[in-house]
Parts: sequence; structure tokens; C-alpha cells
Amino acid sequence: MKNYTTLILAGLVIVLAAVLIGVMVYIQNQPTEVRTIQPLVEIAEMEPDSARWGINYPNQYHSFLKTETNNVDTTYGGSSEFSWLERDPRQVILFAGMPFSKDYNDDRGHANALKDVEKTKRLNLDVNDPKRTPGTCYSCKSSSNPGLWAELGMEAYDAMSFVELGEHVTEPIGCANCHEAETMRLIVTNPALEEAFERQGKDWTTFTRQEMRTVVCANCHVEYYFAGEGKYLTFPWDNGTKVEDMIAYYEEVGFSDWTYPETSTPMLKAQHPEFEFFTANSTHFEAGVSCSDCHMPYVRDGASKYSSHDVHSPLLNPEEACGQCHTNTEYVLERVALIQQQVAETKINTEDAIIDAINAIKIAAANPDADVELLDQARKLHRESQFMWDFISAENSTGFHNPEYALEVLAKSTDLARQAQMLAAQSVNDLSLLAVDTYYAEPNP
Ligand code: HEC
Ligand code: HEC
Ligand code: HEC
Ligand code: HEC
Repeated sequence: MKNYTTLILAGLVIVLAAVLIGVMVYIQNQPTEVRTIQPLVEIAEMEPDSARWGINYPNQYHSFLKTETNNVDTTYGGSSEFSWLERDPRQVILFAGMPFSKDYNDDRGHANALKDVEKTKRLNLDVNDPKRTPGTCYSCKSSSNPGLWAELGMEAYDAMSFVELGEHVTEPIGCANCHEAETMRLIVTNPALEEAFERQGKDWTTFTRQEMRTVVCANCHVEYYFAGEGKYLTFPWDNGTKVEDMIAYYEEVGFSDWTYPETSTPMLKAQHPEFEFFTANSTHFEAGVSCSDCHMPYVRDGASKYSSHDVHSPLLNPEEACGQCHTNTEYVLERVALIQQQVAETKINTEDAIIDAINAIKIAAANPDADVELLDQARKLHRESQFMWDFISAENSTGFHNPEYALEVLAKSTDLARQAQMLAAQSVNDLSLLAVDTYYAEPNP
């Protein structure tokens, strides 16, 4: 009898200790704010209005508001909306025949997302034109989206025109794009991201908190396309997220964004593949560093410590962004400057190679005696080469997120462009098409 009591008591002590440890681990894993401050107001599920969330979380809200007025530039990035077409006129040629050749500005802070998409000259607001801008373009611009996707479903959302949908989209990016209101945990809010993970056999609800500190950015900072007539938002990740995997995917589904004028090449436009580029085995990714570590570092306001929601170039606050891990921030900033300079210079050489290919293909395509098969191969190489270049060019870190990969992809892109140029020359048996730097010789309008 006595033995039983001891056993039961010992058992109870063990169970209680386990529960206590469990609770402590759970509390430790909660975001700081959840650990310390009681909510003041109830926030509805998917509440689009960030000001409402701001009542409970004033530090995060006020730091988020700063993204609207940030305007400081860095050597290659920063927060003003300078024109890429003016800075690098080669891009006017590379995007000939599509809207990016008319208007292509650098990205700004999150609070500007809605007004920036509504004012770009790339829009086609004629609702009766089959080439009208689809509502899908709002997908990464607004905290109204999670609610609208829940209400309408993504299929109906995407099928609407930009003009129609615009009446329902009222807020820029906000809290509801990244957080679940009840728990404040980070979540996947974009159905296209959830579906892409599902097709890869991944379940984001099993990801760790540190993984989510990167994945939450993949709601928007990714490569995507609009599939079919319904312009259904889709991430081309079924073969993987390396640039070659995405090219193979687009080949399989027979997708192109536009046809290049005079060469008739079916082209691809890369979006802003920060997530795919960073996660392609970069040093920081492999070391377990997340996007939020650099772009949303912890900051202090008196006694409280919180994640800065003033998301911008970390080169503007290196002590907070890099200093948490690197004791010598001056040294790492020098490294960034060198990496970005190498990538930017290599990128221009790649652009020259692609433009030489374009000019050679144009001349060959105008020749009725050209070898059709060789010419088609040249077109295919131009398509692949330009997507690879754009994957690095449209990615917003000028190579920093993954320096080795940036140079590898640009080297491949240059190689494919030169091969395309040679095939075009071969298709009409004309060595003069092997001329280099034709952009300067014959500047296109
Ligand atoms: C190790 C730190 C670090 C990590 C991790 C990191 N970034 Fe960056 N990011 C940078 C630096 C440095 C730049 C270059 C800024 C510049 O040129 O001014 C940058 C640039 C950017 C820019 C362009 C900023 C501008 O000023 O225009 C975006 C957008 C961006 N990163 C998003 C991401 C996303 C999304 C992730 C995760 C997938 C990520 N970053 C991971 C350091 C980091
Ligand atoms: C772009 C995505 C994004 C948006 C938009 C966003 N957050 Fe966050 N938020 C994060 C990330 C990342 C963290 C860090 C979470 C972690 O470490 O678990 C965070 C953390 C928090 C925390 C936990 C405490 C802390 O500071 O680390 C609170 C509270 C919070 N955010 C409130 C807000 C509020 C309020 C808004 C709207 C004004 C907002 N967030 C908008 C990404 C976002
Ligand atoms: C809901 C979509 C969405 C999410 C989620 C999101 N972003 Fe962005 N981000 C954008 C858009 C759109 C822009 C460009 C806005 C503009 O130019 O008006 C942008 C701009 C930026 C910039 C450039 C800011 C500047 O001042 O130049 C950085 C850096 C950035 N995002 C990092 C991140 C990081 C890191 C995460 C994850 C913690 C994240 N973003 C999550 C859509 C998003
Ligand atoms: C959360 C920690 C963390 C943060 C934040 C961080 N780094 Fe790092 N960084 C690392 C680790 C870990 C390595 C790998 C170093 C090693 O293994 O010796 C690294 C490596 C580097 C390297 C060398 C890369 C190479 O391949 O040679 C550079 C350059 C660098 N970081 C720059 C930066 C800059 C700039 C920032 C801020 C924008 C930053 N880091 C922010 C952890 C971090």
C-alpha cells in the first residue's frame, strides 16, 4: 500500500514537472509582445485596417508607418522610386514590346504599395480590352486581400479586372498580410503560396518560427505568373525554386509573358524573386539567418524591445541589422559594396550580350532564307538567357542575398546569349552578326 502511494506521488511529481517545463518552453517561444502585454481591443480576423491593430501594438504600428515617408537611397537600392530605365537604358531595349519598357521604378516602403501600383503607367484600365490589367496585380499590395480571398475565393478575385477589384481594395500592405489576429503568429496569407507549398508536398503549419520569419516574406517577394484566362496567381515552383527549375516549368506549361518585337521570341519577365534567390543555399540561409533578422531587427524603445516594422535597406541601419551577429559592421559593409559592384558590372556585360543576340536574331528573322530550326534554337536561348539575367536584375539586393549564385546565373545567362547570337549568325551564314556591343553601334529608340 505504502509503495503504491510513493509510486503515485512520484508519478504526479514527474507529470507536474513535465507540464511546467512544457508551459515554460511554450511561453519562451511566444513573440515578446504576446508574453508581456495584454491586448486592449479585440481585433477581428483578417482586419484590413492596420490602425486598429496599432491600438494593441503601438511600437510595431508606428515603426510600420515610417515606411511611407522613407526616401533615402543607397548605391544600388534604397527607398526612393528612381527610374531603372533612366539609370540603365539597356533595359528599355530588353523589355521592348512590353509595359516595363515604359515605366520601371525602384521599390519603396510597404505603406506605399497600394498607391504605387495604382499610379504605374504599366496599367491598362480599359475593362473591355482582353489585355486589360487583371485584379491579380493587387495580390501583394494590400491588407484588404486576406479578407477578400476568404470572401470571394482567389479564383473570383483574380478573374476581376483591376478597375473592378480596386473598389474593394482600400488599404496598403498591413498587419493582416503577415499575422493571425488572434495569436499574432506569422502565417501564410496568400493562397498561391499555400498551394505552391502543397504541390511541393510541404505543409507550412509545421514550419518553425525561425523558418516563418523568412516564409512570411514569400507571400509576396517571389517569382509568379498569371495562369490561364482567369489570370490565376501561380508560383512556378513545381520542379523546384532554382532559376533553371522555373525555366523548365514555364517550358512545360508553355507560358510566355510577351512576344519580343521583330524576333518573335516568346519571352518571360521575372518579378522579384528574393525568396527563391536567398534560399538557393546562400551563406546566410544555410546559417539559419532569416529575412527578418536583417530587415526587421529588434530595436528598443525605453524598456520595451520589439521587431522594427520599418522594413527597408539594412545598409541604412547596419548596427541594428548586421551588428547583432557581426562585431565588425564596417568590414561587412565593405564586403556588401564589393559584392554589389561586381554583380552590377557583370550584369551590364550580360545585358550587352543579350542585346547582341537580339540584334542578330532580328536580322536573321527578317531573312526568308534563314534556317528555321537554328533560328528557333536561337530564340529559345534568348528566352532562357534573358530570364536568368532578369532573375538577378529584378531581385532587389544587387546580388547580396546570394553573391556566388548571382555571378553563376549571370555567367550562364551571358553564355546562352552568346550561343544565341552565334546560332542566329549560323542560321543565315552571316559572320557580321557576330559583332559585339551593337547597342552602342546602333542604339534602338
Ligand atoms: C544577411 C542580411 C539579409 C538577409 C537575410 C536578407 N536581406 Fe534583403 N537585403 C539585404 C541587403 C544588405 C540589401 C541591399 C540593400 C541595398 O542595396 O541598399 C537587401 C536588399 C533587399 C531588398 C531591396 C531593398 C531596397 O533598398 O530596395 C528587398 C526587397 C529585400 N532585401 C528583401 C529580402 C527578403 C524577402 C529576404 C528573405 C527572402 C531578405 N531580403 C533577406 C540584407 C539581407
Ligand atoms: C511583412 C510582414 C509583417 C507585417 C506587414 C507586419 N508584421 Fe508584425 N511581425 C513580422 C515579423 C517577421 C515579426 C517577428 C515575429 C517573430 O519573431 O516571431 C513580427 C512581430 C510582431 C509582433 C511580436 C513582437 C515583436 O515586435 O517581435 C507584433 C506584436 C507585431 N509584429 C505587430 C504587428 C502589427 C501591429 C502590424 C501592422 C501595423 C504588423 N505587425 C505588420 C512581420 C510583419
Ligand atoms: C503583402 C505583400 C508583401 C509582404 C508579405 C512583404 N512584402 Fe516587402 N514589399 C512588397 C511590395 C509590393 C513592395 C514595394 C512597394 C512599393 O514600391 O510601393 C515591398 C518592398 C519591400 C522592401 C523595399 C523597401 C524600400 O524602402 O525600398 C523591402 C526591403 C521589403 N519589402 C522586405 C520585405 C521583407 C523582409 C518581408 C518579410 C518580413 C516582406 N518584405 C514582406 C510586398 C510585400
Ligand atoms: C542572424 C545573424 C546574422 C545577421 C543578422 C547577419 N549575418 Fe552576415 N553572416 C552570418 C553568418 C552566420 C555568416 C557565416 C559566417 C561564418 O560561417 O563564418 C555570415 C556571413 C556574412 C558575410 C560573408 C559571406 C561569405 O560568404 O563570405 C558577409 C559579407 C555578411 N555576413 C554580411 C552581412 C551583412 C551586411 C549583414 C547585415 C545587413 C549581415 N551579414 C547580417 C550571420 C548574420
